Amino acid sequence: MSMREDPITAHGGGELIDLKAPASEQASLRTRAATLPVVTLNARDLADLEMLATGAFSPLTGFMGEADYKRSRDEMRLASGVPWSIPITLAVDEAKAHSLKVGTDIALATQDGKVLATMKLAEIYKVDRHAEAKAVFGTDEDAHPGARNVTSMPPYCLAGRVTLFEEIPGRTFLEFPREPRQTRAAFRERGWRKIVAFQTRNPTHRAHEYIQKAALEICDGIMIHPLVGETKGDDVPAAVRMETYKVLLDQYYPKDRAMLGVFPAHMRYGGPREAILHAIVRRNYGCTHFIVGRDHAGVGNYYGSYDAQKIFDRFKPEEMGITPLMFENTFYCKRCNGMASFKTCPHTDEDRLILSGTKVRDMLRAGQAPPPEFTRPELAAILVRAMKESK
Ligand code: ADX
Repeated sequence: MSMREDPITAHGGGELIDLKAPASEQASLRTRAATLPVVTLNARDLADLEMLATGAFSPLTGFMGEADYKRSRDEMRLASGVPWSIPITLAVDEAKAHSLKVGTDIALATQDGKVLATMKLAEIYKVDRHAEAKAVFGTDEDAHPGARNVTSMPPYCLAGRVTLFEEIPGRTFLEFPREPRQTRAAFRERGWRKIVAFQTRNPTHRAHEYIQKAALEICDGIMIHPLVGETKGDDVPAAVRMETYKVLLDQYYPKDRAMLGVFPAHMRYGGPREAILHAIVRRNYGCTHFIVGRDHAGVGNYYGSYDAQKIFDRFKPEEMGITPLMFENTFYCKRCNGMASFKTCPHTDEDRLILSGTKVRDMLRAGQAPPPEFTRPELAAILVRAMKESK
């Protein structure tokens, strides 16, 4: 089946970008790359490289040039006008920037020196990382993990088309689809036309399940899409979260309507701006709908509970191409005797079981399972055990 028969085009309206070299060209690229100047990538750069190469970042064909950088930072659009809310840059220090020449090819390598890709160096430009952090995150404080990552990047950016000729090392959970072409094929195979994606970086709890299933009521299928790239130190590791999802899907979701995928991106904690990026990217994965709940991609008190929903008003539905499904704060209510939300429950907080992420982490660290109305006991057991083992 051709891409055109998918229910949704790639972001920007075109075909999915593919920056992976065909098998027949890999050997010669490898030989040539060994002669090129090398730029070393960190874990977050590698995640971005994977997202670019697989088309998850379509229509981008490489790390951003200055026009895309500036407009995405200031107006949440690419130079072409297509919505794009967070700059994707490859940072190098001044010495490295001055050693390279625009118009030549460079090699991109891991910190162990394994060369993975080449890049046609189209531009070298200098940016102000503090201004970038303030524009994207609303702050350049070190206490904000996404802002800290950006301000710790050196100010020079390398831009250009990349060609990946090796698999990115250290990829995990390969038994689950992790590339847009794989998820689109999986949706076609299942005959799903209306597909909702659920982004998550936290252990799954009943509120997640409630909004996932509410969304599934009006869609053909759901892709649970846990982010497995770098997260801040106190977030629960991806392997533990994946384990809970396997059990949840196995025992509580219909097999022909729910699928577990893997989202290789790193977490930026960019709240509203990251919600836009998360939605755009899930369109590339072939999804038609995207769940945005309370404080999506938030951290601390940097964003209002529904900022990540309101920001969708800044874009026309047809330029986003994927429909956000918004949910209010969701919880278990004793008087409703079930899951409910600010929208559907008339009672007060006294009747509601609302636990903060910090409170749940403290409970787990103390070997205590959160109540079953908050986390299903099968999943709480996995979390408590993982917490014990990590001590
Ligand atoms: S996130 O950083 O990936 O957004 P998390 O995994 O906690 O964190 O959230 C996944 C999705 O569920 C997000 O869309 C978030 O807004 C939503 N969400 C999480 N908890 C709740 C809740 N109690 N009520 C409503 N939405 C929620």
